Amino acid sequence: MLNIVIFGAPGSGKGTQSERIVAKYGINHISTGDVLRAQIKAGTELGKTAKGYIDQGQLLPDELIIDILASTLDSFEDSKGVIFDGFPRTIAQAEALKKMLAERGQEVSIMLDLDVPEDELMTRLIKRGQESGRADDNEETIKKRLVVYHSQTSPLIDWYKNDGKYQHINGLGTMEGIFAEIAEAIDKI
Ligand code: AP5
Ligand code: MG
Repeated sequence: MLNIVIFGAPGSGKGTQSERIVAKYGINHISTGDVLRAQIKAGTELGKTAKGYIDQGQLLPDELIIDILASTLDSFEDSKGVIFDGFPRTIAQAEALKKMLAERGQEVSIMLDLDVPEDELMTRLIKRGQESGRADDNEETIKKRLVVYHSQTSPLIDWYKNDGKYQHINGLGTMEGIFAEIAEAIDKI
């Protein structure tokens, strides 16, 4: 089983690189952000709750997101592994993931930290906002997402270092070049 946590600030390329990992390694992909955006589009109760947080650049409560993650995980059949994109984002979520996988006789194989300078993150997200209209890709909300990343999410770097799973990836460069570094790290597991 190949269980990969793809980690990084907003706009670091988690979704972009996840697509390539799925294509090469044939594992399942869970993006909590994509799940929430689909719920918003479908107009569900969960979607209404999620919209309030996402529009403010804030994280949803841990319990809610952990429940979503667990049910998505259980929906996969004959899985060769999973890439976790946008989860975990807090220490509580990382601990929940560890427990969830242990209960299934599994563990995280590697945590890939896509490291991208802040000015580049802003440039990428503003551009995507203009092209795709993603609601949280405006300067004000991006700034809030970055503050949340630094205060609540980046402590996971040390958490995964302590867990022996941490792998730094230079997230600046071409998408192909970054993927080559990722594939090299995965192939060494
Ligand atoms: P989420 O959807 O996870 O958003 P995010 O973390 O802010 O990250 P993005 O999806 O914006 O960026 P990405 O790293 O995937 O980069 P991408 O590949 O798209 O979460 C959204 C919200 O949902 C959160 O704010 C929160 O409210 C809620 N949420 C989600 N998960 C949660 C959780 N676990 N707990 C609580 N709340 C949660 O790339 C970005 C852009 O850059 C694209 O346009 C891409 O084409 C471009 N690009 C990619 N790579 C490169 C490159 N090498 N060079 C140039 N451009 C590039
Ligand atoms: Mg994404």
